[in-house]
Amino acid sequence: MISIEEMATFCKKKGIAFLTSEIYGGFSGFYDFGPMGVELKNNIKAELWKSFVQGRDDVVGMDGATITHPKVWEASGHTASFMDAMVGCDRCREKFRADTLIEDAVQISADGLSVEQLENLIVKHKIHCPKCKGPLSMGQQFNLMFNTQVGPAGAVQAYLRPETAQLIFTAFKNIVDIARVKLPFGIAQAGKAYRNEISPRDFLFRTREFEQFEIEYFTHPKKTECPCFKEVADMKVQILTESKKDLASHTIKDLVENKVFKSKWHAYWVASFYRWFLEHGIKPENLRLREHTKDELAHYAKACFDIEYKFPFGWKEIHGDADRSTFDLDQHMKVSKKDLRLFDEETKEKVVPHVAAEPSQGIERAMLAFLFDAYEDDKERGNIVLKLHPSISPVKVAVFPLVSNKPGLLAMAEEIHRELRKEFNSTYDRSGSIGRRYARQDEIGTPFCITIDFDSLEDKSVTVRHRDSTKQERIKKEDLIGYIKKKL
Ligand code: GLY
Repeated sequence: MISIEEMATFCKKKGIAFLTSEIYGGFSGFYDFGPMGVELKNNIKAELWKSFVQGRDDVVGMDGATITHPKVWEASGHTASFMDAMVGCDRCREKFRADTLIEDAVQISADGLSVEQLENLIVKHKIHCPKCKGPLSMGQQFNLMFNTQVGPAGAVQAYLRPETAQLIFTAFKNIVDIARVKLPFGIAQAGKAYRNEISPRDFLFRTREFEQFEIEYFTHPKKTECPCFKEVADMKVQILTESKKDLASHTIKDLVENKVFKSKWHAYWVASFYRWFLEHGIKPENLRLREHTKDELAHYAKACFDIEYKFPFGWKEIHGDADRSTFDLDQHMKVSKKDLRLFDEETKEKVVPHVAAEPSQGIERAMLAFLFDAYEDDKERGNIVLKLHPSISPVKVAVFPLVSNKPGLLAMAEEIHRELRKEFNSTYDRSGSIGRRYARQDEIGTPFCITIDFDSLEDKSVTVRHRDSTKQERIKKEDLIGYIKKKL
């Protein structure tokens, strides 16, 4: 596997992603996505939306504002608790996030530890500044929310949302009043979130602006049956449990029976996203679940599982799923003084819905996992091949005229490209040798290349070349769209 630095170089070269405002020296923690990156990202979001919103009857979507009323974050606990501990170097004055500094120095998990526990670890392991080896001192707790002033007089202090989730809770009443949903149901949202990370790093892995796809899945607090559970019961997953002794393969059913998962709904949603990654091409050996320890649970969570990917810099979270119980709706009822309970026809009582699962997907993290998993340096071909699942490939099909000095051949190739682009993201390339053109498409993960040659003018057929096998097939021009649709 290539390093994260090599991946960043590759992504810049291929127009996938690069540091923002580069002409001004860049701006740490913020990235721009180029022509290929925006397609890849949009395809990932579209696949998530198709699988978990449009593909289900029990989930509806929404799109909330990214600048939000300060009361939202007071109620949610983010103003008081969404903090990271900082540590500073007494010599060079550089600031670091304490838990990640410890994790890097001594390879232990320090997530969720108190300032005192972090300080003890720094002393115990004699950890020094990674830049200049100077002595370190614990600094302030640092709130990760970006704030901004709203209105011309700058009178109202507001926040950029650090998670999309809260917008689902604050819009909860508006949505249930019109969407005719009945428990259990979910509300999903995809969009930007912002965190003022102390040490953004590892390219797209830890950034200050990112996108999330989140679902809050609401259940009746006393009705725990999960009719969908059978869909995932026999699925096998690798898991590192809270005791951290056991990286093993288990079925979801076993994990529920052994009380690793306390609820079937929570297990169902974690397994559904794990399966989504496998179905979209991630190799099983690079995926695992990790149960959060009691110490690292977020302030709102009763239980939490991460899906982790095996990056070159270690196993890291690409997806989190917390059981948030009734924490958020309770808090918003308390602070807003609005009744957010739902009436249960069966028991004739009002209940506060329980968030049994909160699938929380970082889009850039998914993108990075897909890129690492797909990246192959094919020595025989002499180029990189990005073996992305066709559903997320930025370009689906590339059309080449074999030579560029035969008008009839160019006209046919252009006409095919125009027809194909009505259906798929198609690109047309007439420059350089066919080998060079194949290589260009391999490197951005285009699954099909179509060549129009001299015979095409006679037999109205074209050659379709497959990215992964390099196998070629002759297909009738009129069958092309149907053929590619079937393959995708
Ligand atoms: N909503 C959970 C998170 O953003 O981490």
